[in-house]
Amino acid sequence: MSDRLFIFDTTLRDGEQVPGCQLNTVEKIQVAKALEELGVDVIEAGFPVSSPGDFNSVVEISRAVTWPTICALTRAVENDIRVAAEALQYAKRKRIHTGIGTSDYHIRYKFNSNREEILERAAACVRYAKKFVEDVQFYAEDAGRTDNEYLARVIQAVVNEGATVVNIPDTTGYCLPSEFGEKIKYLMEHVDGIHKVTIATHCHNDLGMATANTMSGVINGARQAEVTINGIGERAGNTSLEEVVMICRSHKELGIDTNINSTKIAGLSRMVSSLMNMPVQPNKAIVGRNAFAHSSGIHQDGVLKNRESYEIIDPKDVGIDENSIVLTARSGRAALKHRLHVLGVDLDKDQLDKAYESFLKLADRKKEINDDDILMLAGRHHMANHRIKLDFLQVTSGVGLRSVASVGLDIAGEKFEACASGNGPVDAAITAIKQIIHRQMLVKEFLIQAINKGSNDVGKVHMTVEYDNRPYYGFSANTDIVAASAEAFIDAINKFIR
Ligand code: KIV
Ligand code: ZN
Repeated sequence: MSDRLFIFDTTLRDGEQVPGCQLNTVEKIQVAKALEELGVDVIEAGFPVSSPGDFNSVVEISRAVTWPTICALTRAVENDIRVAAEALQYAKRKRIHTGIGTSDYHIRYKFNSNREEILERAAACVRYAKKFVEDVQFYAEDAGRTDNEYLARVIQAVVNEGATVVNIPDTTGYCLPSEFGEKIKYLMEHVDGIHKVTIATHCHNDLGMATANTMSGVINGARQAEVTINGIGERAGNTSLEEVVMICRSHKELGIDTNINSTKIAGLSRMVSSLMNMPVQPNKAIVGRNAFAHSSGIHQDGVLKNRESYEIIDPKDVGIDENSIVLTARSGRAALKHRLHVLGVDLDKDQLDKAYESFLKLADRKKEINDDDILMLAGRHHMANHRIKLDFLQVTSGVGLRSVASVGLDIAGEKFEACASGNGPVDAAITAIKQIIHRQMLVKEFLIQAINKGSNDVGKVHMTVEYDNRPYYGFSANTDIVAASAEAFIDAINKFIR
């Protein structure tokens, strides 16, 4: 019988802190329900005191979700804790996640304080949180760079106050796996009563070691892994859920397993990627487009003879099925609705009508519509509420010619047109849009990615537009990549012109 590793998903809190990845409450509920179906133990739903939107999301997720514990983040501040407790009022299982920085960097520079004072504040925040909920998780921010002896004193103090889970974050992603494992071992050996609480890992990926550090922590006694879908998160991200889960499944000798239904991983990875406009790198372990693609002849031959010669995971175990349902122009609304439901997206009648209309248009241009296309269509309805919409776009381009674009925009019902040339069709289209929207805007990042394969495929465009010294993120997908680029630009503009 394996030891249980609890999966604490923080996609909706730490993952959502990435600039441009913010979700609205409806989208967060969609992800939370999919996380529940996946089988996570804890969903960190937000940081309620940080904004009314975050507060509301914690309330609504608490109502929408039944099995996982809902967790809300706070600083070691009484008002944060009170607000978190209020946001959690409808959760069937609730947890407050409170804590403070414990490294000398945090103590000296962030808090202008000293070790004894921080130790007292750590104990006090747990003591206060216990007045509201039984399940209190303490985090020692920057534990990765906190010396083990002091860290053990802090953890001892919060365990004495009744913390149920103690979280040891490698906030800056600095630790080596051996060092992080040692830290967990040290706590296991030096904190009285540690066996009665759960030690959690929370590793960031700044040096590409988040998963390795998490596993090293687990091997040394941690029994909760804090993770995000696709490893999203600030800077280089957090530990990715799919990697930890599949490492435990693949290395049975560890004797550790999770409650995750791994066949739901690929679908949820795509949902999070499309809702957050965050592309998954093609070579990302487990969920990248190329994770199971064997291109070299030697590999293909080996896999065909026996899959295990080159594959350590059966793609079906993570929900990747090359033969999965494809819809065509002959598929009805019910088939689309059913497929969306399987992918975790439930649209109301109006939204479904719009998605079906776009589906038929796409099916006219592309013979087979697969899950990625469907998720992309479901995401498009957010553009319907935009103040600025692309009315028409015509582009002339070719070799030896300067590209010319004419663009029509619908701005809150009024029509505007402009024409411009550029060094390529995208440049021409964007220049024409800029002639209508008179603002100082700069395209900082521009990424075009095919959803699947084939020259008739849909291209996804991610764009970062700088305006007033702030980045705004736009996304679109279209079989016409120039149109997708113009739409992504307009999507970004809609974020600062409302
Ligand atoms: O990285 C970190 O230290 C965190 C804590 C707030 C848990 O996200
Ligand atoms: Zn973090």
